[in-house]
Amino acid sequence: MTAVEEHATPMGHGRMHRKEDARFIRGRGTYVDDVVLPGMLHGAVLRSPHAHARITGIDVSAAKAHPKVRAVITGQDLAGLDLAWMPTLSGDVQAVLATDKVRFQGQEVAFVVAEDRYSARDALELIDVDYEPLPPVVDARRALEPDAPVIRDDLEGRTDNHIFDWDTGDKAATDDVFARADVVSTQDMLYPRVHPAPLETCGAVADMDKVTGKLTVWTTTQAPHAHRTLYALVAGLPEHKIRIISPDIGGGFGNKVGIYSGYVCAVVGSTLTGKPVKWMEDRSENLMSTSFARDYHMRGEIAATSGGKILGLRVTVLADHGAFNGTAQPTKFPAGFFGVFTGSYDIEAAYCSVTGVYTNKAPGGVAYACSFRITEAVYLVERLVDVLAYDLGMDPAELRMRNLLLPEQFPYRSKTGWEYDSGDYPATLRTALEMAHYDELRAEQAAKRERGELMGIGLAFFTEAVGAGPRKHMDILGLGMADGAELRVHPTGKAVLRLSCQSQGQGHETTFAQIVAEELGISPEDIDVVHGDTDQTPFGLGTYGSRSTPVSGAAAAVVARRVRERAKIVASAMLEVSPHDLEWEKGRWFVRGDREAGRTIQEIALAAHGDLELPEGIEGHLDATCVYNPPNLTYPFGAYVCVVDVDADTGQVKVRRFVAVDDCGVRINPMIVEGQVHGGLADGVGMALMQVMPFDEDGNHLGGSFMDYLLPTSMECPSWELGQTVTPSPHHPIGAKGVGESATVGSPAAVVNAVVDALRPLGVRHADMPLTPAAVWRAAQGSPIRT
Ligand code: CDP
Repeated sequence: MTAVEEHATPMGHGRMHRKEDARFIRGRGTYVDDVVLPGMLHGAVLRSPHAHARITGIDVSAAKAHPKVRAVITGQDLAGLDLAWMPTLSGDVQAVLATDKVRFQGQEVAFVVAEDRYSARDALELIDVDYEPLPPVVDARRALEPDAPVIRDDLEGRTDNHIFDWDTGDKAATDDVFARADVVSTQDMLYPRVHPAPLETCGAVADMDKVTGKLTVWTTTQAPHAHRTLYALVAGLPEHKIRIISPDIGGGFGNKVGIYSGYVCAVVGSTLTGKPVKWMEDRSENLMSTSFARDYHMRGEIAATSGGKILGLRVTVLADHGAFNGTAQPTKFPAGFFGVFTGSYDIEAAYCSVTGVYTNKAPGGVAYACSFRITEAVYLVERLVDVLAYDLGMDPAELRMRNLLLPEQFPYRSKTGWEYDSGDYPATLRTALEMAHYDELRAEQAAKRERGELMGIGLAFFTEAVGAGPRKHMDILGLGMADGAELRVHPTGKAVLRLSCQSQGQGHETTFAQIVAEELGISPEDIDVVHGDTDQTPFGLGTYGSRSTPVSGAAAAVVARRVRERAKIVASAMLEVSPHDLEWEKGRWFVRGDREAGRTIQEIALAAHGDLELPEGIEGHLDATCVYNPPNLTYPFGAYVCVVDVDADTGQVKVRRFVAVDDCGVRINPMIVEGQVHGGLADGVGMALMQVMPFDEDGNHLGGSFMDYLLPTSMECPSWELGQTVTPSPHHPIGAKGVGESATVGSPAAVVNAVVDALRPLGVRHADMPLTPAAVWRAAQGSPIRT
């Protein structure tokens, strides 16, 4: 049996139905907006209509006089509390409420607390703000021009809009490779500004109890523990007096990692009024002011031999970070994990430099369903490989197959210093090509081209890097990226697993119970998973970048193994044998050579709480804790094939087929994995074909509703065709890799490659996302929309 076959069967209880769905399908979930507390008040945010303007005065007297208004808070009020600015996840500062200037349209200017939501909204209109408009900077390139208006004049000594320069790889070696290459293909491309757009918008209910001094915040967060520490640091509150509860969350996708002004204002509002204060943003607020993603202007160069051996990659990026540097990524990585841009290929040298700039747009740059900018990196390299195939006149599948890393190269150290843990890339690509019947598709395409019909076949091969830490390399604001887990086994053998990570709908209550069930032989129905409440769970950095399974999933396995070892000692006392004479089989310890003499985990749990005499130093009970500090990231990968038909007259793209072969190591629950892949593929179709957050030249946001910012539905998606290969992660306790974001990372390139392939007879080599009918039509006329 090969390693792949051995692990191809999922863990026990594989496709069990999601435990949490019992409440979701009955409408019994509890989301932040479902939280209603006695005497609760409601907050609303006044937002700037300007992208860039100086505030010369704010008159709140009329709003304060509204009979149902309890408080009006301005930036100046917050300045008096030293709360007008808060740290961002990237070590910048961001205005909670504007004091001096507004720097993007939709920026928070004042906060009204009223007896009901409607009165709070009404009172916003009674606030009179004097703005002195300033020229906005909307274009990232313009931001770097010497005469560009300086956006961040709040930062001492700041005379331009430059945020950072960062580079990786070996420049000299890369230049050398390029100098001796037969072919160099160059392409400019934009990964447009998009938004995670979870169905549940962001919000909080803050309750400051002045008697106990305890602050409780129910909030839409993907990282409850990190939020608690940040509240303590920013507000100066003792951390043990802060409780963050993240109840059911209606999707996060990176949108709910950071702290938003509304959360802080709800806390201040509760402190001022002595009542709980709820703030829930509406859809437009969510789209206009909370974290965007991407906005990477990239130039990629790929060097190769005329025979199609890829030699090197050289990349420059201009990263538009908006008005405050609020990107979410480990501190040492200002461009996130973009350094993984060499992708899945065996190349000689690579170099990339990234420059970050401020513009008058909302801050963010979050990891929207990806591991910190890996989506941008994968898109870049997969588009470049297709451009090279175009220039060489080679089949893109053949070009990829010729350059993919080989199984014997793992663990593989990339040219930018990342250690890929495991993979059999050619096997995965072969599986995808076979499932798609690639040769037949190409024959069909050739026949259609004869008839003037536009059919495209697009490929993408991606490698992700998920599961941040380890702690020594990765932190957010000094908090090391490791996760805690606690496992309690009650006397009757039922268990409670307490985790630091937080589900936003990924099924953690099921899959983490499955992990413990596999390790201990307790039924997953007898294991409750508790998460999302800092008073009830151990510290950890939260859920984003597909890190739950690689980090908290590992923690769950390790803590269960610790319980198993404790159970061994108790069993040895029960059976009156040495622990060395015991053997484990799922659910019980028994005496080696005498299978009948054994004790189940349930019997052991009861005995551990009883009067059994235990060896010196053994305290009883089976409960255990652990902190998992991952030795490395895990590297899931996959091969995607997309087939599109393009209407040359209207530019309409129809995604006819999509084959996705994912390898995320051992699958805990294949049904959940497939659901994750389905969602990510839909995301990819959306980004490739429809989604962008556009701005006009005055900095007006033009994508503030779902009428303008389009989400894909089943109408735009084909019936996904999924396959798998299984290459376990060698360093993860159960061999699993993350998967939640793989499809979002891999699919946009496959769709764009397919559309460009369809347009090939018209001489199109590249067109930027989103490939709306208008963009496709223009590209077909020979004028691709340029960045
Ligand atoms: O961090 P996040 O939960 O978003 O992503 P993930 O760790 O990739 O997990 C997404 C869901 O898929 C969770 O319920 C995982 O337990 C499940 N999963 C799985 O069943 N097998 C894997 N190899 C990876 C994830």
